[in-house]
Amino acid sequence: MNRRQFLKSTSSAAALLSMPRFAMAASGDGFVQLEAVKGQGRLYGEDGGLSDLWLYNGKLPGPEIRVKRGERVKVRFKNSLDEPTSVHWHGIRIDNAMDGVSGLTQPAVQPGETFDYDFVAPDAGTYWYHAHHMSWNQVPRGLAGPLIVEEDDNPFSPDADIILSLSDWRLDDNGLLDTASFGARHDFSHAGRLGNWLTINGTSLPDIPVTIGRWHRIRLINTSASRVLDLAPSRFGAKVIALDGQGFDTARDIDGVIQLAPAQRMDLVMKPDGAGPIPFEMMTGQPFIFANFVVSGEKAEPEELRMPATNSLPEPDFANARSFPLDMAGGAMGRMQSATMNGQEMSMRELVQAGNFWAFNGQAGMGDKPLFSAKRGETIILESTNNTAFPHAIHLHGHHFRVLERNGEKLAHPDWRDTFTTQRGETVKIALVADNPGKWLVHCHMLGHAASGMMDWFEVA
Ligand code: C2O
Ligand code: CU
Repeated sequence: MNRRQFLKSTSSAAALLSMPRFAMAASGDGFVQLEAVKGQGRLYGEDGGLSDLWLYNGKLPGPEIRVKRGERVKVRFKNSLDEPTSVHWHGIRIDNAMDGVSGLTQPAVQPGETFDYDFVAPDAGTYWYHAHHMSWNQVPRGLAGPLIVEEDDNPFSPDADIILSLSDWRLDDNGLLDTASFGARHDFSHAGRLGNWLTINGTSLPDIPVTIGRWHRIRLINTSASRVLDLAPSRFGAKVIALDGQGFDTARDIDGVIQLAPAQRMDLVMKPDGAGPIPFEMMTGQPFIFANFVVSGEKAEPEELRMPATNSLPEPDFANARSFPLDMAGGAMGRMQSATMNGQEMSMRELVQAGNFWAFNGQAGMGDKPLFSAKRGETIILESTNNTAFPHAIHLHGHHFRVLERNGEKLAHPDWRDTFTTQRGETVKIALVADNPGKWLVHCHMLGHAASGMMDWFEVA
């Protein structure tokens, strides 16, 4: 992220963040309409040009979909793009048939076609939806939106329950979305497509209205194609209360920087005690401000924090668990010599010619056999090793897992996640209860990595 370029936007008037409470009107049968369309948006700011984007319902980010825990999400999806697509509901422990993975759980939705998504949202929390067909090309053009599942009793009123979708974009010299570099092999084989511009809910450097003395929940979603965001919530007095949708029992003060990798979410709570604005900074390189909390209201009786109720997930049964490796290899400056692709052993050179740079367990892209096969209800431990020169954000579909260890050290908080980070050379151990039947993807959420080898599947039967 380029601070100088970023700061140019401060010369134009800061935009007040609009937080449309999207009461999406449902039709008689309870379905809301979601349509993928071509559209345009001013990423660079009010005085910037119009970029060509692909959008849900013409909005950036896509409309907020909000249900209560245990309710059904019913979405009548229409594809009005010129190419096939599908919609994935990231982080939901979902019915497999509704997972939206084209080629695995459903055929892609063709241009002009519709598809009804209809599933139960079992856990409260911050989730999101995004295109899952050539995601590397579709998500960074704008096909992503928030999916919020509320607790039965939401302690935060609507204006104090704030969603911030964070996304980086690659803009060209004219401040327009750089579409020429989509699919660049250099991006795929290195850190993925990284942007040079950051937006929050589609706007650059917004003002976010907050009220003095009140507790707010700030729901952060990283919808970037590859950018790991370095955040330091404690610098503005915020505490962390949930990761990847799953809430903590108590609010946690986190010292220093905490990373939010692509697809990950982090819910914060904050209570402004004085006049603002309170800067929200990005800690990548020199800290820079990417949003301001603008404080209003009179100092009143300070509120007590009420923690939202947590979800109950099945706990791993370590005594009867089976372990599998997840070896990540390949990429630029990696040491991968060969891997299996489409059932054939191929040299690195042949893999690269076929557009694959990465592999899980020596398998580049989807294998005909699953990465592992679990009996329903069984506890699976994945021991992952990042034998590459880059960080990866590994996502398992249909399940949450506990992150147990990093580099052999037990973590103080074995938090539930649906996407975990691994740094170069790191080992990470996770445990999941494979209780959701079906064929599920496991892939890197650096979308170019997923498209060039870092994607496989597992089975729960
Ligand atoms: Cu966010 Cu395979 O997905
Ligand atoms: Cu990756």
